[in-house]
Amino acid sequence: VLDIDLSSRQAEVSPAMYGIFFEEINHAGDGGLYGEMLMNRSFEERVMPEGYHVENGALVPPVVDNYITGEPTTKSYRWGDDPFPGWEIIKRGNAAAEARTVTDNPNFATAPTSLRLTVKNPGKGVALVNKGYWGVALQKDARYRLRMYVRTADGGKDMTVRLTGASGEELGSVPVTLDTDGEWHEYKAVLQASDTTSDGRLSIELPGAGTYYFDYVSLFPEDTYKGRENGMRKDVALMLEELHPGFVRWPGGCVVEGITLNNRFDWKKTLGDPASRPGEYDTWGYRTTYGFGYKEFLDFCEDLGAKGMYVCNVGLACYGRSGEYCSDEEALYYIQDALDAIEYAIGDTDSRWGAVRAAEGHPEPYPLAYVEIGNENFGPIYDRRYNMFYKAIKEKYPDLTLISNYGLEGSEGADTIEMVDPHWYVEPKHFFNTTRLIDNYERGKHDIYVGEYSCNQNVGGGNMLAALSEAAFLTGIERNGDIVKMASYAPLIENRNDRAWPVNLIWVDNDQVVGRSSYYVQKMFAQNRPDYNLKVNADIKSADSAPLIGVDSYIGLGTWSTQTQFRNLKVTDANGNVIKADMNDDTQWVTPRGQWTRGDGVASQTGIENRTALIWTGGRATDGSVIEFEVKKTGGN
Ligand code: AHR
Repeated sequence: VLDIDLSSRQAEVSPAMYGIFFEEINHAGDGGLYGEMLMNRSFEERVMPEGYHVENGALVPPVVDNYITGEPTTKSYRWGDDPFPGWEIIKRGNAAAEARTVTDNPNFATAPTSLRLTVKNPGKGVALVNKGYWGVALQKDARYRLRMYVRTADGGKDMTVRLTGASGEELGSVPVTLDTDGEWHEYKAVLQASDTTSDGRLSIELPGAGTYYFDYVSLFPEDTYKGRENGMRKDVALMLEELHPGFVRWPGGCVVEGITLNNRFDWKKTLGDPASRPGEYDTWGYRTTYGFGYKEFLDFCEDLGAKGMYVCNVGLACYGRSGEYCSDEEALYYIQDALDAIEYAIGDTDSRWGAVRAAEGHPEPYPLAYVEIGNENFGPIYDRRYNMFYKAIKEKYPDLTLISNYGLEGSEGADTIEMVDPHWYVEPKHFFNTTRLIDNYERGKHDIYVGEYSCNQNVGGGNMLAALSEAAFLTGIERNGDIVKMASYAPLIENRNDRAWPVNLIWVDNDQVVGRSSYYVQKMFAQNRPDYNLKVNADIKSADSAPLIGVDSYIGLGTWSTQTQFRNLKVTDANGNVIKADMNDDTQWVTPRGQWTRGDGVASQTGIENRTALIWTGGRATDGSVIEFEVKKTGGN
């Protein structure tokens, strides 16, 4: 029986409740949302971050001490042996040609690598071919914008650029007349596809013997989202538009932190002409072009009618990777960098970075409303950094909402916390059983932004049960709208050819976009967001008094920055009657990286001492009544 009081007005649900979490992971940007169709357009793909080297085919970062463990971390990352991924040289007949990447006489000092292709014998033809992101998807009659730079002193003049199918059949072409003065020249053209294929190519036919240098060979659909030149893929962006996002979070995620500090996502390097952007070897094992940069993120917020949320690095690299850190003094650089980012977005046009924004064609401020201080950092060093950043940013920009990356419980080391950002990556049972998690959470401390959540344990690549459990979780989020102000599912997008993370909301390849069942949960909640809650009394009994959903009891740790083990926990009702004894089997453990594990694991404290963890739990007694209680655990094991 549901007793709904229509005249009641309970917690309001923020218009910004449902947002999107964008991170360059799984080729979510390059090869996903971002409209560029060619892979490795600037030939920078094989540039490794400073201080890294390749060993046994893997990329090895410099060994540094981890800011949590104090120990050196040794891990290696995905690399490959192709000198120019995405490209191939086709030689027909007895043609002879060789190619290599070079950095002399760069076209752009900030992205200095170019491809030198020497045609010794043209034979029956030499072509420089790009295979796109697992194929170039072409649609019959659609038009594509080509932009490229070529330099030659001794080559031929009459070049042809073609769209082709996988076996070379022509699907469109355009002649390009080269300057042969030995200088870099930009060439632009529009190509129209005569047929549809998902496995197309861009093929540049070399005009005879000679040496040619190529840089930034780029192909975009003419029809991007909102018609922006360096824009987003329309089909993918429309899927996001349908989520009615109240905010967009950028750039992540772990990419904010980097494997080491020097490959963190660096917003300043994402500004300006896309052809001049260096890109970066990404935390998730591939090089991003930086094409979907800070300006594009802010433009995208405007296009979606969403607020912007920028996440800044606090001088700490990802704890689970190198955990590199700088001194508090060096962190002043990162504070200034965050202030500069904010100034770029909302500063006056006579400020240094506001002027850059205006010069780039956007004098009005962008809708940046939130700044998150760090991503998934914790421990005493983060406490200090958080306080430093909070003070500096708040002083200058009091109207921005500043988010800490603490879990639910916040931190005693923080001076002021406006909002925390707990993350949950869990199994279905967890979400089904924590819909009341926030109901008893102390009010008046800080607001909550659930920055990352998804049911991704024991559900394969995601399934309907996972989606239902997320829906259950969101009912609790909405009911507690007085303190839960925002939520974003993560990760957002995967290109199905490069799944770095097991479960993602939207799957794309070069010509398809598929929302998983979880996507439709997001869409349903976002498109039907209530303004406020009504008071509801529910009297629910199942026929056999068995639990309706999930298990008898649940215990969950409301933080992900401590690791604590509980044994022999008992659930009792108000009269002390044991409802459930020995909860070891049902207990889930949270590790400092936020990954939930089950069972009787060994607990350890990694650099966190004397912290209070709040644990909420709810049980369903055999008569169907719900018992709620709260457990506090201070300190370590
Ligand atoms: O969403 C994937 C990753 O999960 C994010 O990069 C990180 O913040 C979290 O650990």
